[in-house]
Amino acid sequence: MIHLMKNSQKRAALEFRQFWYLIKHILPKVLPLNSRNLFRLKNAIRDLRSRGGIQAAGQPMYAQIEPTTACNLTCRFCLNRHLAHPRDHLLYEQFVQILNGLPGLLAINLQGLGEPTMNKDLFKMASEARRRKIYVFTVTNLNLSKKMVCKLADSEFDAINISIESVDPEKYAWYRRGGDIRTVVRNLKLLGNLKKKNGRTFSVGIWTTMTEETIGSIESIFEFASQSGVIERIQTVFLTDKASHVSKYEDALRTQQIADRRAKAKKVRAVLHFLSRKYGILASLVEGKCSWPWSSVYINAQGLLSPCCNIRNRDLKWGDVAEGNIDRAWYGTEWDKLRKGLVTGKPHRACAGCPYV
Ligand SMILES: C[S@@+](CC[C@H](N)C(=O)[O-])C[C@H]1O[C@@H](n2cnc3c(N)ncnc32)[C@H](O)[C@@H]1O
Ligand code: SF4
Ligand code: SF4
Repeated sequence: MIHLMKNSQKRAALEFRQFWYLIKHILPKVLPLNSRNLFRLKNAIRDLRSRGGIQAAGQPMYAQIEPTTACNLTCRFCLNRHLAHPRDHLLYEQFVQILNGLPGLLAINLQGLGEPTMNKDLFKMASEARRRKIYVFTVTNLNLSKKMVCKLADSEFDAINISIESVDPEKYAWYRRGGDIRTVVRNLKLLGNLKKKNGRTFSVGIWTTMTEETIGSIESIFEFASQSGVIERIQTVFLTDKASHVSKYEDALRTQQIADRRAKAKKVRAVLHFLSRKYGILASLVEGKCSWPWSSVYINAQGLLSPCCNIRNRDLKWGDVAEGNIDRAWYGTEWDKLRKGLVTGKPHRACAGCPYV
């Protein structure tokens, strides 16, 4: 029966399961239906309905907040080492200011261009988000000390994701310079044991950045996840081919860019659908039209706003948390221009060469 399904049906099934997963986890965050939660729900509906328009109707319901730009690895595909400010840490006070300035938030991702666990206040931030009933998750390379894994396991995160491109030790170390998959395996085991022992409810997922080199071995990630006994989801993304990124890639990586993304996306979704059923693990591919400017915002470790994690140039002055009024930026002309660019197919210069246009 599954084999008879068309690609479009497989995609719909994959997306529906992902959507259902989110609903299941986010819905309890907006109960009881008091005035604050009703505001957040209505705001989310306004966001969804405004998609495709030039002006935002609601405030961001989702924010990616960068705790730090410090990192313990130098991965080949990552722009972290090209940052002008490589060791900024977001202050806890700035974080609270962000949450106060964005009352529509339903979910936040505490992750940016750096290793989140290197911000000493990360867990305090997660606790504050949880206290405000915001679904909070992070992404880590898990090349961490045992002490740090214990802190992660004891944290208030709703979900913890681990980045892995390959389970082959040599390949892993090629992409993740300074990293060791054996450390990840050891730490994942510890995380799973502590979760069970302490009756914690956080979910654990894998994030994997696919290249032409790794795309054929995606099943090994499912096997790895299944053997771990703790991984519930696998989220895949293609190596970014936004011009601003590609210009920084070394030749050995540039040749591994995904060729013919659209056709590949179809095939990968069909494979993910099959593997997801085979291993009983949720799976998704982040690919398709961008919806960020209608619902989401990115805030870097300096407290500066931008429309997404792919836009890091600061000359356009998207907004500054320190200036207080996050709303003014979000409803401002630059953001309108960005939305207009995506709607009309004449992208804003900040989106130039982005695969999600
Ligand atoms: C920037 S990292 C930060 C969190 C943490 N340090 C980690 O590696 O998981 C977040 C995610 O971005 C992905 N990433 C980094 N550079 C990328 C690129 N050029 N294309 C696609 N994904 C990328 C990483 O693989 C990782 O899953
Ligand atoms: S660990 Fe994460 S932030 Fe650090 S270099 Fe690798 S992908 Fe970038
Ligand atoms: S289309 Fe623009 S806003 Fe959307 S992800 Fe790409 S660069 Fe960011």
